[in-house]
Amino acid sequence: AAAASSYDLVVVGGGPGGYVAAIKGAQLGMKTACVEVRGALGGTCLNVGCIPSKALLHSSHLFEQANHDFKKHGIKINGTVEVDLKTMMGGKDKAVRQLTGGIEYLFKKNGVDYVKGFGKVAGPHNVHVKLNAGGESDLETKNILIATGSEVTPLPTCPVDNEKGRIVDSTGALVLKTVPKTMAVIGGGVIGLEMGSVWRRLGSKVTVIEFLDRICPSLDQEVGQAFQKILAKQGIQFKLGTKVVGSTVKEDGVSLSLEPAAGGAAENFDAEVVLVAIGRRPFTRNIGLEEQGIALDKAGRVTVDAHFRTSVPSIHAIGDAIVGPMLAHKAEEEGIAAVEMMQGLAGHVNYDAVPGVIYTHPEVAAAGKTEEELKAMGVEYNKGTFPFSANSRARAVGEADGLVKILSDKTTDRILGIHIIGSNAGEMIAEGVLGMEYGASSEDIARTCHAHPTLSEAFKEACMATSSKAIHF
Ligand code: FAD
Ligand code: NAI
Repeated sequence: AAAASSYDLVVVGGGPGGYVAAIKGAQLGMKTACVEVRGALGGTCLNVGCIPSKALLHSSHLFEQANHDFKKHGIKINGTVEVDLKTMMGGKDKAVRQLTGGIEYLFKKNGVDYVKGFGKVAGPHNVHVKLNAGGESDLETKNILIATGSEVTPLPTCPVDNEKGRIVDSTGALVLKTVPKTMAVIGGGVIGLEMGSVWRRLGSKVTVIEFLDRICPSLDQEVGQAFQKILAKQGIQFKLGTKVVGSTVKEDGVSLSLEPAAGGAAENFDAEVVLVAIGRRPFTRNIGLEEQGIALDKAGRVTVDAHFRTSVPSIHAIGDAIVGPMLAHKAEEEGIAAVEMMQGLAGHVNYDAVPGVIYTHPEVAAAGKTEEELKAMGVEYNKGTFPFSANSRARAVGEADGLVKILSDKTTDRILGIHIIGSNAGEMIAEGVLGMEYGASSEDIARTCHAHPTLSEAFKEACMATSSKAIHF
C-alpha cells in the first residue's frame, strides 16, 4: 500500500530548475520534496550536459594548447603530447560526482526531502511516485512544480544507439572510449559545435552537417559568420544546407546519405562516429498532465501564465519544460521566481537579459536583441564594435580572435543587444547583463573605469564606439 505524506511543495524533476526551486521553497519555509528518477540530482545539466561538457572542453583545450600554442610562447615539449582519454574522462566524472553529491548535501542542509522515483501528477494536489527502490508513494501537496526538463530530439533517419557508440547523442559523445578518426556532427547548433570542438581537439576530423545555410541560427548573423570562420580555421568542416536522408551502421563506422536541403542528388558520407545534435524537446508527456487537462503547445511545452501557473492553479511549470531558451540559468531563475510567487512574493525573470554562451574557444556570448531582430521590430539603433586584435591584453596573451558588438537604442542609447566572440566572452557577458538589468546606456559603460590591461576594456571601447568613438580602433 502507498504511504501518504503531506507537503507545501512537491517538485517533479531535480535538474537546475527543480533542485534550485526546492531549496528556495524550503528556505521560504515550505515543507518541500523533490522527486527525481535519475538516481542523481542536477538533471541534464550536471549529469550529461553543462558540467561534463565543460570539463571535456577544458581538458581538450589544454591538449590543444600544448600541441599548438605553447610553441608561440617559447615553450618546447621534447617528446610527444598524448591524450590519456581514460584519465580525462575520469576527471570529468569526478567533477560530476562531487557536484551531484553537493546538491544532496544542500537538500539535507535545507530540509528538502529527496524522493527517488518517477513522479506523475495524480491530481491538483497529488503526485504519485513509482519508487526506484520498488513500491510507490503518494505525496499530497499544496503546490506542484513541474521541472521535468527535456530530452534529445530524435532524427528518424539516424537512430541513436549510445551503447554501440556509432550513432550517438550528446550523452554518448561525452563517454566515447576512443578518439574517432572521423566524426560527422548532424546539427550546427550549440551541442554540435561544443562537442565537435572537443573531439576535433583530441584528433578527430570533424564535419558539421547543418540543414540551414548557417550555423547557430539564433546568433546575430555577423557574429555567426565570424564564428564559423574561426571554427573553420581550427579545422572543423561544414556542410551547410544539407540534410541527412539515411544512415547505415557498419562494423567500423556509419555511412550517411546526404541531400541538399533544397533537393538534388544524394551523396554518401562516411564517418567513424556520428553525433546527432538537432535540438532537444520538452519531457512532458506521460507524466499525468493531459489527464489534469493541462495544455501543451505544439512543441510539447507546458503552457503557463506569467506566474508559471498552468491551467490548474496549484500546478506550475518551469525550465526546459516550458517556452524559452533551454538553458540551466534560465531554469534556475524561473524556479526561484515561481516559488517566490507561490508564497505571494515578487518573483521576477527578465527575459531580455538572459545570456547565452557557447563554450568553444574563443567563446561566444550574447544577450538581448540581434541586429536582425531590431530591424524586424523597426527599432532604430546605434552599433559599436571593437575587435580583440586592438585590445592590449588580448595581444599580450595571444587571444586576439573575436570582437565585442554593442547595439543601443538610437534615441535613448539604452543597451539593447550584446554580442561577443572572445576567449572570456562567457564571463564578460555578466557585465553586459548587469548593465541591461539596470537599464544602462552604452555611454554609462563607456564612462565606467575598467582596469588596464584587461579584456574587459574591449567591452568599454565597444560602448564608446556606440555612443561616440573608440580610442584604440
Ligand atoms: P533538466 O536538467 O532536464 O532536469 C529535469 C530532471 O527531471 C531530469 O534529471 C529528469 O531525470 C527528471 N525527471 C523528468 N521527469 C521526471 C519524472 N516524471 N519524475 C522524476 N524525475 C523526472 N545549459 C546551459 O545553460 N549552459 C550549458 O553550458 C549547457 N550545456 C549543455 C550541454 C549539453 C550536452 C546538454 C544536453 C545541455 C546543455 N545545457 C546547457 C542545457 C541545460 O542542461 C538545460 O537547459 C537544463 O538542464 C534545464 O534544466 P531543467 O531543470 O529544466 O531540466
Ligand atoms: P540547437 O537548437 O542549438 O541546434 C540544433 C541545430 O540543428 C540547428 O542549427 C538546426 O538548424 C539544426 N538542425 C535541425 N534539424 C536538423 C536536421 N534534420 N539536419 C541537420 N541539421 C538540423 O540544439 P542542440 O545543439 O541540440 O542543443 C540543444 C539545446 O541544449 C540547445 O537549445 C541549447 O539551449 C542547450 N545547450 C546549451 C549549451 C550552452 O548553453 N552552452 C550547450 C549545449 C546545449
